[in-house]
Order: sequence, then structure tokens, then C-alpha cells
Amino acid sequence: MKYTKLGNSGLSVSQIALGMMSFGSSEWRPWVLDEAQSRPLVQRAIELGINYFDTADMYSAGRSEELTGKFVREFCRREEAVIATKVFYPVEMGFKGGAAGGAKPARRPNADGLSRKHILHAVDASLARLGTDYIDLYQIHRLDPETPLEETMEALHDVVKSGKVRYLGASSMAAWQFAKAQQIAREHGWTRFISMQNHYNLAYREEEREMIPLCRDQGVAVIPWSPLARGFLAGNRDAADTSRSATIRAQTDDVAQKYYGSAGDLRVLAELSRLARQKAVSNATLAYAWLLHKGVTAPIVGATKLPHLEQAVAALYGQLTDEDVALLEAPYEPHRVIGHT
Ligand SMILES: NC(=O)c1ccc[n+]([C@@H]2O[C@H](COP(=O)([O-])OP(=O)(O)OC[C@H]3O[C@@H](n4cnc5c(N)ncnc54)[C@H](OP(=O)(O)O)[C@@H]3O)[C@@H](O)[C@H]2O)c1
Repeated sequence: MKYTKLGNSGLSVSQIALGMMSFGSSEWRPWVLDEAQSRPLVQRAIELGINYFDTADMYSAGRSEELTGKFVREFCRREEAVIATKVFYPVEMGFKGGAAGGAKPARRPNADGLSRKHILHAVDASLARLGTDYIDLYQIHRLDPETPLEETMEALHDVVKSGKVRYLGASSMAAWQFAKAQQIAREHGWTRFISMQNHYNLAYREEEREMIPLCRDQGVAVIPWSPLARGFLAGNRDAADTSRSATIRAQTDDVAQKYYGSAGDLRVLAELSRLARQKAVSNATLAYAWLLHKGVTAPIVGATKLPHLEQAVAALYGQLTDEDVALLEAPYEPHRVIGHT
């Protein structure tokens, strides 16, 4: 395994982060693995040297945090592990995510968002589910347009100063909003975000316009979510008829079906598959290698089978040429903004 610092901080993370959204309860989403199926994957990830685990309070309505804490206790030394979680969305089984289809449960007062009240409640709830005294990286899952940004940034600073959280991170939003949040923190002497968890992969590169140059300039770590476009780039989805696809996620992940699969995306996938065959590596390894070549700190990989882990780690040890990168990038067509809500 290779390790790096998370942005300008002193925090050491493996250059492959394990996405814990895949682990929790199949009651939440059918493709999520329950505890017994999850354990060998997380154990293997740790054997491979992964020390960075990304969960969120909303994943499987808190079950993902419970399993994250449990597996870290079983297989890691707490002081070596980096536990990242998130706050913003409601934590209930009926809430499948901002972009998920179907009816959403009725909103309840103070049960979501980034008010001082919700942040201070949510951090304690996450700590209890994780079964740990502190969270290494506390991330805002989205921006809350209903709460003054000053209120959010002060509350986040307070959870750091209370000792419950070591570092702060943010997730998808517009670059100007991220710059504004950092500026507010700087003006008040409050804790700033050290990382940006954004939507970035070969099939979605809009972040190259503003957010990634901003992060590079400011020394903020870029830790992309859905680095395989929710499995689309793996090349085993049947675009014409998802019910014929090879895996439960490919058949049932309505967010993936909504986000990816345009004619341009299919051309990106075709080139990725062609080059992967030529190099005798998996699509996944090549897609992760491209992200690392672009300078991301660590892709947050969503693994549901043991070989997925080895194929992710293999990306750290391959070399891409400038010609490979040009071939992989050539078919890309610009997208509308995806993943900010
Ligand atoms: N901040 C946010 O808003 C946000 C949003 C989404 C995700 N996330 C984070 O990002 C993490 C990863 O997201 P994701 O699960 O969407 O990531 P992803 O890596 O884009 O997709 C994961 C899926 O790709 C397939 N896959 C992975 N490795 C493969 C391989 N080697 N060969 C073939 N197929 C492979 C699996 O599909 P099958 O299960 O079908 O085999 C797996 O479920 C999450 O766990 C979460 O921590 C954050």
C-alpha cells in the first residue's frame, strides 16, 4: 500500500480509501452487503493496507457507521485507522439519498441539514454508532441552503475544538460555495476543510473546470466518490436492459441508471474497455489508475467482491503514459452538473 497526506494536513491515509456505503443493510438498498458478507471484504482491505474508511450517518440509516466502527475494532489499531463520516441528510431507512428515485419520507424538523442544533446532535449520534471517542474526518455531505454558512462553520469548528472530531471535510458543491465556506472559516480563525469529496471519474469530469484547480491551488485533498461511476465503468452493465445485468447493483441502482449511460458515456466505456484489454488489466484498475494519474489523493472505492479490492490496489502500481491518458479522455462529452443535490 502507498500512503499520502490528506491535503495540507498531517493525516496519513492509504491512497485507496474504502467506501463503506456498500456495507450495512440490504433493507436500505438491495445491493448493500449485510454484516456477515461485509466482514471478509473489510478484513481483506485492512490486510492490503487500507486504513481509510469513508462512511456517512445516512448510509443504511446508521448501520454502515455501526459496521465501520465494529470492523475497525476487530481488525485495526484505532490510532492507525482514519474514520471519515458525514452529516447533512436524514438518517432513516426510508431515505435512500438525495438523488434516489421513489417517494422520500416526510421531512422532520431539525432531522437534517447543517444547523448548529443538527450538527451537535448528529456528531454525538455518529460517535455512538461508530463506538469511538472521535471521528478523524467529519464531512458535510452537501451544503445546506437553509442555514447561514457562518452558523455551520462555527458549529463545525466547535466539534473540532470539543475533541469529537480531528479534521473537517466537505463534499459536492459549487467551487464558489466551497471557496466562500473556507473564507468564512479563515476570517473567524475557525477550522477549515482539508478535503473535497467530489463526483469525479472518467465518465464525469466537470470537476476539472473549477473545483479541482481550486483544491490544487489551496492544498485541499481531492477524494472522488463513485470513481467507477457506480460500477458503470466496470463494463458489466447491460445498458439496453438493466434487468439482464450481471450484478444486483447493476440491476437495481436507480441512481447509476439515472446518472450514466449516454452515447458519450458509452464511447468512454468502449475506449476504457479496449485499452484495459490491451494492457491485460481490469477496467476498474485502469479507471482508478487514470484518477491517480490526474493527481487525486485517494479514490473512494466501492467494493462488493474480494477481487475488487486487489484490482483497486493494483492501480497504485501501474504506469499510464501520456498517450494512454489522451486515448482515455478523447471520447468525453460535457455533462450537466450531476451530484450536487
Ligand atoms: N459524498 C457523496 O455524496 C457520495 C456519493 C456516492 C458515494 N460516496 C462514497 O463513495 C464510495 C464509493 O461509491 P460507489 O460505490 O458508487 O463507487 P464506485 O467505485 O463508482 O462503484 C462501486 C461498484 O462498482 C463495481 N465494482 C467495483 N470494483 C469493481 C471491479 N474491480 N470489477 C467490477 N466491478 C467493480 C461494484 O458493482 P457491483 O456491486 O454491481 O459488482 C461496486 O458496487 C461509497 O461507498 C461512499 O463512501 C459518496
